Amino acid sequence: MTLQDELIAAIRNIPDYPKPGIMFRDITTLLGNPRAFRRAVDELVHPYAGTGIAQVVGIEARGFILGGAMAHQLSSGFIPIRKKGKLPRETVSIAYSLEYGVDEMEVHKDALKPGDKVILVDDLIATGGTAVAAANLIRQLGADIAAACFVIDLPELGGRAKLEALGVEVRTLVS
Ligand code: PRP
Ligand code: HPA
Repeated sequence: MTLQDELIAAIRNIPDYPKPGIMFRDITTLLGNPRAFRRAVDELVHPYAGTGIAQVVGIEARGFILGGAMAHQLSSGFIPIRKKGKLPRETVSIAYSLEYGVDEMEVHKDALKPGDKVILVDDLIATGGTAVAAANLIRQLGADIAAACFVIDLPELGGRAKLEALGVEVRTLVS
């Protein structure tokens, strides 16, 4: 089976969640599948092995799971971007809009240094509101985004194009 077919088979599709009309792509089944999880993480990181990635920056919540595994593979650190009010020290924060709502995210001000080479990761890119905001936070701290990685792209929602328009290289595994 190709990697794409294996990942698609491992992702569960839930109609009308969390709202009517939304087809929710549930990666918990992929994460619970040892072979699919390993293959997804290996495929996300392989272009960046040995390229001096200082940190993998993961977006709450599912970006933490993928990002921790990627950081381990790359021997890099892991930095969380969290929903507002969860980080204990001084942060930079940014408001963003979602496919289904509005929220605010933040990162510790001292988490990244100017010039740090980082990879941004989340499970899925839809409208791109979340990932664009995260990329802006990383750049506010002066770090350099080598790539933004996602298991799933929903291309009809335009997120990938928005990130690319900011000059961010985007890597996704299935559409
Ligand atoms: C989902 C997903 C991405 C975001 C993608 O997270 O994990 O972070 O939405 O949507 P966008 O491209 O339209 O911004 P969600 O906001 O559901 O948060 P959670 O991971 O905390 O459940
Ligand atoms: N799955 C997970 N997160 C999401 C989705 C989805 O289908 N759409 C927007 N965020």
